[in-house]
Amino acid sequence: GMEEMRLADERLNVLEHPLIAHKMSIMRDGSTAPSQFRQLVHEVAMLEVYEASRDLATELVEVETPLQRTVGKRIAGEKLAVVPILRAGMGMLDGVLSAIPSAAVGVLGMERDEQTRQPHEYYAKMPRGIADRTVFLIDPMLATGGSALSAIHYLREQGVCDIRFLVLVAAPEGVRAVLQEDPDVRIWTCALDDGLNEQAYILPGLGDAGDRIFGTL
Ligand code: PRP
Ligand code: URA
Repeated sequence: GMEEMRLADERLNVLEHPLIAHKMSIMRDGSTAPSQFRQLVHEVAMLEVYEASRDLATELVEVETPLQRTVGKRIAGEKLAVVPILRAGMGMLDGVLSAIPSAAVGVLGMERDEQTRQPHEYYAKMPRGIADRTVFLIDPMLATGGSALSAIHYLREQGVCDIRFLVLVAAPEGVRAVLQEDPDVRIWTCALDDGLNEQAYILPGLGDAGDRIFGTL
């Protein structure tokens, strides 16, 4: 709608596939139990990374079939990494890995400083050679963008060039903040929602993603 027009940016990808839209509606439903919610996060994450990996470079590779030699393709260049932002990002990890099983995983723990209210990393364990990898940064929710920008800042300091940020629900405020602060990051989202409430929850949103994935409501 209008919001998407205002946010028109080639670095923002709002996925409109019917399978994703269908699953998102069930996830938004407050009566959907954590077991089903978790399963849907898994399914949507797999579909989302399929889209977000569409332009990965390939190279030709010779293959011997049981019948003859032929030429196929494989992913070229440096290896891939998936970086979930704790805690809710863990819910998307299996889905992404089921599409890209060979990706290495880096874990990034984010918490808000009591004084400054700014999120910062309290735990980070990255795979070797992270700087040269394409990084799929995953977190179900992009609200104010604070967590995302801290995570992106951390990855830039590690020397990562290709950051692809995958979320399920994004608020326009968060999208704007991330695209403004980082000139290169690209965003994929399954929904671009209306905005934030006073508690910085996304409206209409789906509530607290971490609580719904882990059953800590
Ligand atoms: C949620 C969500 C994002 C962040 C989004 O995590 O998973 O990380 O909030 O909000 P922001 O864009 O305003 O930073 P939360 O802090 O609730 O932690 P959790 O993953 O442990 O539930
Ligand atoms: N984090 C969530 O989990 N949900 C929101 O709506 C906003 C931030």
